[in-house]
Amino acid sequence: VSDVVGSSGRSDITLDVKAQPLFVDAANASALGLILNEILTNAIKHAFTDGRSGHLSLVVEGGNDYGTIRICDDGPGMPSAARSKSIGTSLITRLARQARAEATWRNNMPGTCVTITFPQTAARS
Ligand SMILES: Nc1ncnc2c1ncn2[C@@H]1O[C@H](COP(=O)(O)OP(=O)(O)OP(=O)(O)O)[C@@H](O)[C@H]1O
Ligand SMILES: [Mg+2]
Repeated sequence: VSDVVGSSGRSDITLDVKAQPLFVDAANASALGLILNEILTNAIKHAFTDGRSGHLSLVVEGGNDYGTIRICDDGPGMPSAARSKSIGTSLITRLARQARAEATWRNNMPGTCVTITFPQTAARS
């Protein structure tokens, strides 16, 4: 998260990361990385557009079977109609399917939250 936000050159976006360690199936890791990159890029591009400052939070949580990654911005929010049209969000949906994950969008009032839920691989010793 800090790499993507850092590479945007924006110092007016504050970050709050609450991440617990999770095991991700190696076969799904690159798809999850691409999904996260697109969600973060969207937040920088659309939520914090035109120099609008803001706050980005990332929460990583894991249960026994599933892990979740939730990314929330406090931008103007995402019109539900916008989602289906463009390449980025359909890429997220397709990559999620490929990684046996699910992507959901909800209103953060104000802003947008995207949650990725994916099967959690058990740690092997
Ligand atoms: N975090 C967000 N806050 C507000 N609007 C958003 C957010 N994420 C996406 N959107 C809206 O949803 C639309 C679709 O997003 P999507 O990623 O599919 O396309 P894009 O970012 O415009 O183009 P690209 O194909 O390069 O990703 C965006 O054009 C924007 O209007
Ligand atoms: Mg996009």
